[in-house]
Amino acid sequence: MRRYLVAGNWKLNLGPGAGRDLASAVGERLRGRTLHGDVLVCPPFVTIPAVATVAKGDPVMLGAQTCSAHENGAYTGEVAADMLKEAGVQYVIVGHSERRQYHRETDDEFRAKIDRVHAHGLKAIFCFGELLDERQSGRAEEVVRAQLTGVLPRLEGPNAYNLVLAYEPVWAIGTGETATPEIAQQVHAFSRAQVAEILGADVAANMRILYGGSCKPGNARELIGLPDVDGGLIGGASLKAEDFVGIVDGAEAAVG
Ligand code: PGA
Repeated sequence: MRRYLVAGNWKLNLGPGAGRDLASAVGERLRGRTLHGDVLVCPPFVTIPAVATVAKGDPVMLGAQTCSAHENGAYTGEVAADMLKEAGVQYVIVGHSERRQYHRETDDEFRAKIDRVHAHGLKAIFCFGELLDERQSGRAEEVVRAQLTGVLPRLEGPNAYNLVLAYEPVWAIGTGETATPEIAQQVHAFSRAQVAEILGADVAANMRILYGGSCKPGNARELIGLPDVDGGLIGGASLKAEDFVGIVDGAEAAVG
């Protein structure tokens, strides 16, 4: 049985003060509840310590939005996986489309980052997904396959517990447009089949594949209820406690 994961990606929002407020509002709403899955928030680096303090004891885990591909050294502006671990982080997002687009990050960097994350006992959330014109020209599966085969076969020690995938069709991110359940299920099943080919059937059966792209309380239950969708990576709707917890409620309803 795959436990769902509802992960909030705060992106470039919320400094330590506002982040602490949001994390405690989420924590308050979830406190004392027995959840059938995992809840994660991924604040900006500087907000991580503040969230770590308030989230202690609540069913809210802590993640980061990226990390360095390097272990340490002369890499100005970077933050290493072991530093994140020391700060209380358990998950690191790698390969988000905004990193691909605005920072020109490549498969080689994704592979190196995921290996660093794994070397320190953390879990990686590896994002992939096609652009609008790639879908419109019928190349969505080809793109997804290339993104998965460009990284997964070269990882040092991936398994179903230290790696989570997130299918995020770029045309659905921050646009209010959501993949239809048909599209989401189709790409998720296709992705799981790719994982089976690359890492084996056992790993594929146990690996969580999240959906991301305008996921909100109103569509979470339907999306997360799909057979191959194991949770959500949430951008905009993770910035309001009510909406984010509404998505957790949707996930609970989907598995319950
Ligand atoms: P969104 O972002 O929920 O605002 O569409 C999702 C993401 O980028 O992870």
